[in-house]
Amino acid sequence: MKLSSRHEWVQRSELRSMSVECERVGGVNLSQGVCDLTIPAPVREAAKDAIDNGPNSYSRHDGVSGMREAVADYYRRRAGLDVDPETNVVVSAGATGALYCACLALLEPGDEVILFEPYYSYHRSTLVATGAVPVFVKTRAPDWDIDFDAFAAAISDRTRGVIINTPSNPSGKIWTRDELNRMAELCAKHDLIAFTDEIYEHFLYDGLEHISPASLPGMWDRSITISGLSKTFSITGWRIGYCLASPDIAAAIGNFNDLIYVCAPTPLQIGAAAGLMQLDDAYFRSLADKYRQKRDRLCGVLADVGLTPCVPQGAYYVLADTSALPGSNSTERAMYLLETTGVAAVPGQSFFTGTDGDAIARFCFAKEDDVIEDACHRLEARLK
Ligand SMILES: Cc1ncc(COP(=O)(O)O)c(C=O)c1O
Repeated sequence: MKLSSRHEWVQRSELRSMSVECERVGGVNLSQGVCDLTIPAPVREAAKDAIDNGPNSYSRHDGVSGMREAVADYYRRRAGLDVDPETNVVVSAGATGALYCACLALLEPGDEVILFEPYYSYHRSTLVATGAVPVFVKTRAPDWDIDFDAFAAAISDRTRGVIINTPSNPSGKIWTRDELNRMAELCAKHDLIAFTDEIYEHFLYDGLEHISPASLPGMWDRSITISGLSKTFSITGWRIGYCLASPDIAAAIGNFNDLIYVCAPTPLQIGAAAGLMQLDDAYFRSLADKYRQKRDRLCGVLADVGLTPCVPQGAYYVLADTSALPGSNSTERAMYLLETTGVAAVPGQSFFTGTDGDAIARFCFAKEDDVIEDACHRLEARLK
């Protein structure tokens, strides 16, 4: 049977391919961002209770009221945003589902959207799959500062929006207030929408703060604030995320959410809502501290074995320099690393256009400590 012409827009992601290869050689998988740490008790218990006692049927298409209220309350407390749970919140199938529905609701085929490089491949694929055109603006190691001249130069008559991922996958970059203010000026000047992906908002190191772009003056009406609980509560398989937007936009996004997913899993929304309401700053601080220790351990070993890491400010990935490994591109180098050490990382070409990712690999440290230790010992044994 003939496939649609659309099927070529979405390829199997390199992330999944490396996981398959890793399984084949029985290696340690530091390629995928699978966060397999313990789920916080209030989240687990509220979801179990909802499964045992209901509700287990469809929820309202934009989420159960408890979850919409928990999200609104959370943004009131943390970002000072005046969020109405009835009209501003759409609970979706993860941040991934929220971004997909937002692109369908807001972008025409051919509309251009600025994407900063290195980028998260799902952002690129979501734009392409909805007919939009990603326009890349490069950022460079080690600081990944935003080049505002390049950003301004990339804006054309067709530019409709920009994707801001802070903290970023894969670089860990956290946008500063100054950068966000300059971004806001460009958005106002060119009437752009900011699609913000804030899924790593609690994974912050070295005293840095997360700022929701929608909280900046003039940005609420032009922001689609996207986040979710996959990472924060270690529930990547539950598929619970959301977006915040002004009422007319949220309504349109909600209609696509209804069409594609009907609703996010009802009892799991109740679990996530309990976590948002019950877990306080101490939980989020201890989460960040645990991940900082994992970051420091892995980055220390990568530096020791000659894979110089670009130590991330946030999120839970580290980009490392693989130029010392044999191979003529990032896939060959990542395969050499896997075959020699048994440690799987994602080839840099998944995050860059052109050849900029050729000597880069991304390692994920969202793993139990014994898995990180295993990976560190394998790297030290084979590469030192
Ligand atoms: C930047 C970014 N956004 C979104 C996601 C996925 O989020 P969700 O599980 O809520 O769909 C990931 C997962 O790796 C990610 O790295």
